[in-house]
Amino acid sequence: MADPRAIVALVILLFIFFSPPPGQEPLVRARSRLEHVVTTEHHDLTILNQTRFGDFDPVQNKWLNMSGFREDDLFAWQALPLVKERARHQVAHALGHDNLARLGSGEDDRPALPLYRNVTGTMYGKWVRSPVQTSVVPPRLNMTEYSPVGPFGPIPVRSFNKNVTAKSGSLEVWFEEADTQETLLWHGDRRVAREVKAQISVGDAEAGDSWDSRLFGIHFLDTGNIMLATTTDKFAGIFALPHMALSDYNYHSAQRLLNRTLGMTIRDQEDGYLQSFSPWAPTPDGSSDSSPSPTCDLIVYLQQHLVPVPGVKPGPDQETLLSFIEQEIRFPTGASIPATQHIAFSMVAFSPDCGFVLESKGPPDFAPQEANHLRGLKLEVEYERARRHLLLFAAIMSGQLFFFLRQMRDASTPSTRSRISFYTISMLSLGDGFITMVLCLISLFIQALWVPLIATAFLAFMSVSFFGMRFLMDIWAVQAPERERRERQERQRIQQLAATTVAPPTIPSGTMENAPAQISTPSQMPVITAAGAETLPPPVTAPRPIDTGATPVFIPSDQDTQAEEDAPNTAATGVEAGQRAPGFGSLYTRFYFLLLVTLFLSLNATSWPPALRRGYFTILAFCYLSFWVPQIHRNCMRNCRHALRWDFVAGESLLRLMPFAYFYGYEQNVLFAAVDLIDLGVLAGWIWIQVLLLLSQEIIGPRWFVSGTWVPPAYDYHPILRDDEEANNLPIGATTSTPSPEQAKEAKDKGKRVFDCAICMHEIEVPVLNGESAAEGITTGSLVLERRKYMVTPCRHIFHSSCLEGWMKFRLVCPIDREELPPL
Ligand SMILES: *[C@@H]1O[C@H](CO)[C@@H](O)[C@H](O)[C@H]1NC(C)=O
Ligand SMILES: *[C@@H]1O[C@H](CO)[C@@H](O)[C@H](O)[C@H]1NC(C)=O
Ligand SMILES: *[C@@H]1O[C@H](CO)[C@@H](O)[C@H](O)[C@H]1NC(C)=O
Ligand SMILES: *[C@@H]1O[C@H](CO)[C@@H](O)[C@H](O)[C@H]1NC(C)=O
Ligand SMILES: *[C@@H]1O[C@H](CO)[C@@H](O)[C@H](O)[C@H]1NC(C)=O
Ligand SMILES: *[C@@H]1O[C@H](CO)[C@@H](O)[C@H](O)[C@H]1NC(C)=O
Repeated sequence: MADPRAIVALVILLFIFFSPPPGQEPLVRARSRLEHVVTTEHHDLTILNQTRFGDFDPVQNKWLNMSGFREDDLFAWQALPLVKERARHQVAHALGHDNLARLGSGEDDRPALPLYRNVTGTMYGKWVRSPVQTSVVPPRLNMTEYSPVGPFGPIPVRSFNKNVTAKSGSLEVWFEEADTQETLLWHGDRRVAREVKAQISVGDAEAGDSWDSRLFGIHFLDTGNIMLATTTDKFAGIFALPHMALSDYNYHSAQRLLNRTLGMTIRDQEDGYLQSFSPWAPTPDGSSDSSPSPTCDLIVYLQQHLVPVPGVKPGPDQETLLSFIEQEIRFPTGASIPATQHIAFSMVAFSPDCGFVLESKGPPDFAPQEANHLRGLKLEVEYERARRHLLLFAAIMSGQLFFFLRQMRDASTPSTRSRISFYTISMLSLGDGFITMVLCLISLFIQALWVPLIATAFLAFMSVSFFGMRFLMDIWAVQAPERERRERQERQRIQQLAATTVAPPTIPSGTMENAPAQISTPSQMPVITAAGAETLPPPVTAPRPIDTGATPVFIPSDQDTQAEEDAPNTAATGVEAGQRAPGFGSLYTRFYFLLLVTLFLSLNATSWPPALRRGYFTILAFCYLSFWVPQIHRNCMRNCRHALRWDFVAGESLLRLMPFAYFYGYEQNVLFAAVDLIDLGVLAGWIWIQVLLLLSQEIIGPRWFVSGTWVPPAYDYHPILRDDEEANNLPIGATTSTPSPEQAKEAKDKGKRVFDCAICMHEIEVPVLNGESAAEGITTGSLVLERRKYMVTPCRHIFHSSCLEGWMKFRLVCPIDREELPPL
């Protein structure tokens, strides 16, 4: 019989294979639409080819016949001269006033400026409203003209998307410059301009969200000036971009370059090499029509700042050295080069239709300490850093694995394994599994870092699948009887409750151990079933099946002998006994299911607003870093002290905190995540509290912080020995093994007795409370540390703690009379 799940999976797969790709239109419509698009583009290109600098001048009422540049579009073009003035102001600040003239002409005998010629990379900074914003009136557009046409007529719009309403926020610009001759403009033997693609992400400090836009433009290589524009149906940005230039010279370079590259793109569209209807669409992935409602358009001016070249006096040498550095980091030959510097940019962004003007925050209007325009690294430098940090992370992973292996070797006997909390180890393994998946995923997108990413992922994968899972399986097997016992007790309690209470019983929620752990506990399953509405015990007034008085006949289950014992209680037990705790196989499934859910949720979270995203990841980190909590709980429930090696606890705590310290505390981390020392402090403090608790459990006692009624009774191996009438609990051998009368007398005077330890055959001197010393007021507090040194078995034999603990690693019977010992 086929598995229904397999059929569902098959149907989904078939659906995926045979459903048409989204956005595909009938061929005829696509054809006519393409013709329309290409006609418009040709028209715009002709205008680009035939106009001169100054043909677009809204102040003197000169317009272009292109969408967005006509008079009746009513855009805020009157502000363009102001915006250009701000851009020129930034050029002067970045390059110095003497170099402002370079914008005007390329024929210059002065040495080239020390600027990066390839700005591929990501820049980060903050934006503020420009000082000229106050003189820009947002245009009053006729919104009905821009309403997109839906299946049921035009959809009314109130305002455009990507409009900026806040006063300030974060800014991120990502550049990409292709290394082809087609997008490069030469002038003689000089490279003058190159086409550049950019993605700009504008964050809103008040609303906490952000939007992305993709822009195309020109990088003027001599001056480090960049002009960018969005292109949409209502705004032919890229075709009119040369008219935005700051000088006649820039206009001509831009016109020549764009005339060529735009012409090539249109030809590709006509020939069918390029499927896209709008190759310059502002959507981040370049797809067209993903959002039907109109968005604000942008014109962006960027100016690269001079790169400080250390150790070289200003002049032509600087430029030579810088271009050598640029060449060397891209194609390393092993030459020694000075440390590479940041790229810095200042920016002015102007939206003619929404009427906002933004600037990057920084000098001269703000102090450099407060904000310093846009800063970033060249892509190669950033990759190099990421590679180094990944190597460091791999070292941390190896360290974790090292401690883990030592712990595994240490816990090689059933007795030691049974002390370790299954959930602590699962959480550690879940963390490793998460790292494996994330690194594998990232490696798909960043080709340059594929090898280090995959190597680190493999290390994490090994630690989860070979060692983590193996250890979990061992612990699971050892703790199986314990789980069954707990289940049985749980069942019995429920039955008792059902029998004694009239009202439907309140079922105590699962034990605390289940709460922090992220895997739902199998041991809880029968409890849930019993608490479920369908199996609620009948009220007492309901007729009872046992009322007949005849001895009911039960057919005992073959598998579960305990079920036989339980059977006479109620008939329900027979049913429940069939539902045994799920095996390790189903646990395995749950483990990976939880892993995938966390992964997908986290992937989704990366697109949330920044504040929410940060909150999510901090909470996730907090849950993950709670991995000692299950162990503390287990110690407490079983009254055992020493489950894990101390180097394991210290090593794992420290090493697993490292990545968080990196992202929350190190400013130049690869993700450029903002430093947040408070969150880091909380995380570190939380780990520290857990380790302290573990330590105190070892020293003071596993249960010192809970009252006795909360936890199940457990045998206390370290009782305070008393020698008085009402509570005489002296171990066997107290009277017989006195070595010599004087010694014994002396010891007894100090409130001590001497015994023999049957394992190491040495003496053991223990403090004993008798009536007198109690009267003298010897506090039991001073005995807390003393009594850790000896252990008394339930059969009242006394041993050194170290001796008996060593013994109990291997056998859980008393070395003297072979009575069973409760686990430690
Ligand atoms: C561009 O203009 C020149 C004349 O200035 C003309 O010869 C040429 O055909 C035009 N090219 C296009 C693509 O319009
Ligand atoms: C603008 O271009 C369109 C389409 O080519 C044309 O119909 C219209 O007459 C032009 N307008 C002006 C003022 O030249
Ligand atoms: C807006 O445009 C629509 C058609 O495009 C027109 O009917 C309407 O009168 C215009 N509204 C205003 C206030 O100009
Ligand atoms: C953009 O927002 C401003 C307010 O900040 C508003 O005046 C303007 O009308 C909006 N523009 C569009 C096109 O939505
Ligand atoms: C700029 O650098 C990037 C990253 O190394 C490279 O992919 C790109 O081809 C380079 N572009 C140019 C024009 O050199
Ligand atoms: C634009 O390109 C065409 C050829 O595609 C050429 O004839 C024309 O002169 C160019 N115009 C400018 C202004 O460079």
